[in-house]
Amino acid sequence: MLETLRSVMRFRKFETDPVARRLARCASVDDLRALAKRRLPRGVFGYIDGAAEDERTGGRNRDAYHRLEFRPRVLRDVTSIDMSTTLLGRRVKMPLVLAPTGFSRIADSQGELAVARAAARAGITYSLSTLGTRSIEEVAAVNDGPKWFQVYVWKDRGLVRELISRAADAGFEALLLTVDVPVLGRRERDVRLGFTLPPQLGLDTILDGIRHPGWTWDFLRSDPIVFSSAISRDAGSSGGVDAMGLAEYVNEQFDPCLTWKDVDWLRSAWNGPIVIKGVQTVEDAVLSAEAGVEGIVISNHGGRQLDDAPPTLELVGPVADAVGDRLDVMCDGGVRRGSDIAKAVALGAKACLAGRAYFYALGAGGERGVDLVLSWLEDGFRRTMALLGATSVAELGPETVRWRSRDRR
Ligand code: GLV
Repeated sequence: MLETLRSVMRFRKFETDPVARRLARCASVDDLRALAKRRLPRGVFGYIDGAAEDERTGGRNRDAYHRLEFRPRVLRDVTSIDMSTTLLGRRVKMPLVLAPTGFSRIADSQGELAVARAAARAGITYSLSTLGTRSIEEVAAVNDGPKWFQVYVWKDRGLVRELISRAADAGFEALLLTVDVPVLGRRERDVRLGFTLPPQLGLDTILDGIRHPGWTWDFLRSDPIVFSSAISRDAGSSGGVDAMGLAEYVNEQFDPCLTWKDVDWLRSAWNGPIVIKGVQTVEDAVLSAEAGVEGIVISNHGGRQLDDAPPTLELVGPVADAVGDRLDVMCDGGVRRGSDIAKAVALGAKACLAGRAYFYALGAGGERGVDLVLSWLEDGFRRTMALLGATSVAELGPETVRWRSRDRR
């Protein structure tokens, strides 16, 4: 009996490193999200996880991936799989870009540096937000791989010009112009919790901080969180924004008069490719092509702006049909697995952007969490291609997917 018992018993080696121990129990982005929820103060998690108003668009972005099924082909030799593709004229390892996310340091004090280092190690394109909490130069110093810079248009155009010229000098290859924030969406989780950026410590947050000691210790030991690149000229000694609601900041600083003419202005200030992020209709995709940009991201800002905007995956096919031969069509919102990337590509996207997937990982396990999630996205994409019988990205055509019959469109 002892023999039998010995042959079936298996103990995992006790992992002494607490981060490795936590991460070893995770197998999916949902697990990392659950871990981040336990580790981060409620306000911080709510800011990352939340979406606008009733969060319908946020949820539907993800649901759309659940409603798309595969049509796998079998008995094809899949020994060698080429995941590479061409994006904005450059050969890249796979059709994935890390989406710009503001304030990465609220999840982990290394913030954008941790993500940019992990992206460089994985060979995946990184994009830095203008609302980043590590500067353009700091990020470029740790990432010599493909990287893009995201801009909002401040009323102070001089500031925008200065930022993009710094991005060019630092080796950023493309500009992502975010166009879906003429005003900030109403994120009701932030309203309920009175969440400000940078996070402020009041009595309730101190109590919350005591319940999340790992995060609180990391936060208190590191430098104050500021917008490291976009230090507004009138920000005075705070070196960034004073603690205030993001909505107040955006509504004060960003230019709501932005029009297609500003895309021409941007072209005069930037030499490389321009990608418009936040396109949500075929009509605007066509106008983007007419404006001569190199790419668009079909995006509703992860559901954080206009609730009831359409789920991005549903737009990929119609937009790719309309303009896919004139510019690179990408999408974001709800990408959690390598198989999601395969679905978007099959419908006609050149690549997907993923933001929350790595943000949860950063909150769950810092830089090692990001390494882990990037390895899953890469392995998942390769495995999906193998299971679909596709050995190159070109073989991921519309015939490899179908909408579930009851909501086929
Ligand atoms: C910033 O871009 C945000 O969505 O909070």
